[in-house]
Amino acid sequence: MLKRIGVLVSGGGSNLQALIDGVESGLIPGEIAVVISNKPGVYALERASNHRIPTVVVNPRDCPNVVEFSKAILAVCQEYQVDLVCMAGFMRIIDRVLVEAYPNRILNIHPALLPAFGGKGMYGHHVHEAVIASGAKFSGATVHFVTAETDIGPIVTQEIVSVVDQDTPESVAAKVLQVEHQIYPQAVKLVMEEQFRIEGMRVLYSKS
Ligand code: GRF
Repeated sequence: MLKRIGVLVSGGGSNLQALIDGVESGLIPGEIAVVISNKPGVYALERASNHRIPTVVVNPRDCPNVVEFSKAILAVCQEYQVDLVCMAGFMRIIDRVLVEAYPNRILNIHPALLPAFGGKGMYGHHVHEAVIASGAKFSGATVHFVTAETDIGPIVTQEIVSVVDQDTPESVAAKVLQVEHQIYPQAVKLVMEEQFRIEGMRVLYSKS
């Protein structure tokens, strides 16, 4: 059973807060061992400190390249004996060196229904602008295993929100963020209990 979670953050940390709340409510059968940010002074770090969770800043500016940045993050995860890495509002690309150290043990939450509206440039308000411009009637959030490719990996869970005529990128973002906070703790619980198998890009829960 996976027990110790390492959370990677870059900003406000509302998804981190949802995971903290999930641990403290008993929903998530584990503990957050460390919160790692690529930026100092972000509110996510304050959220962690408010709950007496150790924090570490790994600044890419202190690393010569993305491989060394990823190795520095990996070193912190190993130091804190992390079993499961959760990217929560983490805005940096990581190198396969971290993915290979944690095969199907890194999760990310993306504010759209992957594989649509994912990949290069699809972050923050850009995602919601593209959703509205596309005429899509639904958007939502996706929790997926992280692979060496951006926003591509076996999907653990998704939840939809409706997109109506009056919606703006901001209003869609707000609806999606609410759903993110619901599905991320549930996804972490599912993965920690290891009641699934992966077949290609599919995460299957059936016992058969
Ligand atoms: C959220 O929209 C999330 O989908 C994306 O980063 C944004 C901020 O997340 N990954 P948080 O409030 O820092 O958790």
